[in-house]
This record gives sequence, C-alpha cells and structure tokens, in this order.
Amino acid sequence: MATPHINAETGDFAPAVLMPGDPYRADRMAKAVLTEPKIISDVRGIRAYTGSYDGRPLSIMASGMGMPTISLYATELFRFFGVERIIRVGTAGGIAPSVDRGDVLIALGAHTTSGMNELRIPSVHFSAVADFQLAAAAASAAMGDPQVKVGTVVSEDHFYFKAPGALEALAAHGVLGVEMEAAGLYGVAAAEGGAALAVLTVSDHLVNQGRDMTSAERETQFTRALDLAVAAALA
Ligand code: HPA
Repeated sequence: MATPHINAETGDFAPAVLMPGDPYRADRMAKAVLTEPKIISDVRGIRAYTGSYDGRPLSIMASGMGMPTISLYATELFRFFGVERIIRVGTAGGIAPSVDRGDVLIALGAHTTSGMNELRIPSVHFSAVADFQLAAAAASAAMGDPQVKVGTVVSEDHFYFKAPGALEALAAHGVLGVEMEAAGLYGVAAAEGGAALAVLTVSDHLVNQGRDMTSAERETQFTRALDLAVAAALA
C-alpha cells in the first residue's frame, strides 16, 4: 500500500528502521550493513532498503533534513508500514564544553525551537524523549566508551540563525549538541505508539574552536554511531 511519500508494499519494511538524513548515506549504509539489501521505495529520491543483519530483518531509509520531513516519513512508517522502532543516525553540532568533534551523542531528550510538538496536547509543552529501551540498549552497547555521551540535544528549525545568547544558555543547561530532527521524530513516536532514538556523531563544534575532523576520522566515528544504532535496533 503506497502512501504519499513511500511507494512500498505492506510488509516490505522490517520492524526496525535506521534513518540517516542523507539519501546517499542511506545507500552507503545499506551496502555496508545489510545482507541482500533491496530497494523498496524511492519517492523523491529518498530510497528505502530492507535486508538482513545477523539473520534479522532491518530497514534503512533517509529522512531528509528538518522536523517536518522526518515527521511525515516517521508517521507513515509507524502508521501504515508496521514499523515499531526508528533510530535516527545523524550528525550534530557540539554545544557543551564537554563534547568534542567525533563524539557520539545518545539523545535522551530533545529541546526544540519548533512549534510542531506544541500543537499536540492543548496547553502542554510536550517533552520529546527517546524510548528508554532503545536508549538503554545503545548506551550499553557503548560499553563505557568515553567518547559516547548521553543527554539532551536541541532540535532547531534554523541551521544558520541563532537567537542572541541561545548557545550560551543551551550550554549552561547541559545541552550536548544541536541538530534538526530528533524532537520531531520523538513527537511522532509518542503520537503513533512507536519507539524512537537519535544517535548523533558530532561533526563540528559551535563554541569550541578547533580543527575539523579528517574524512577518515568522520568515517570511523560514523561507524561507531552506526554500531550503537544497529545494537539498539536489534536489541
Ligand atoms: N546545526 C544543526 N544541525 C547540525 C549542525 C549544526 O550546527 N551540525 C551538524 N548538524
């Protein structure tokens, strides 16, 4: 049964879906992680794959950028395709001084500048939180790795605009990093009865000056995030 944004059949998706933002990363992840990946949807160049990992079915599909986009894909996956778990595997900009480029963030909760979740429950400021089982499985797979950090992130609508004083206030509240999707995904999961988690590689730091990661470092760190996401998806 096709939906407006996914032209797959019922049963094509595995219960767990890994979701990078970038469709090309989804292609690379499918090749690297899945045994016998098959393309099951390709609307607007957003390819979805199902294959297996360790004999278990697993799907990979890109979300595109931003909360409106991830929200519509996540809603269709949970509501119409039998998906139970979505793990976003993306990047974030570092905010907290304790965070370095290359760290992996497990986003327990996501503050946001978006109004999407404000609309969900009348007069309530919604708490966008990860699924506990997924977060616990990812944290336990990290086995105490000091470069894996568990805490809050902020999901913003703007990439280039920052309200004056916002970064300092976020850092003062222990916010680890900034990205653009987790709060939307967590809101949809709550509304649709699904489970969600975001595992984020820190690609740059908005406060600490320092050298950018080399492409080799990026791939190593991204692999670490991917390993945690797979462990959570199949726990
Ligand atoms: N802002 C939003 N999303 C991001 C950033 C950023 O600075 N870095 C990586 N993803």
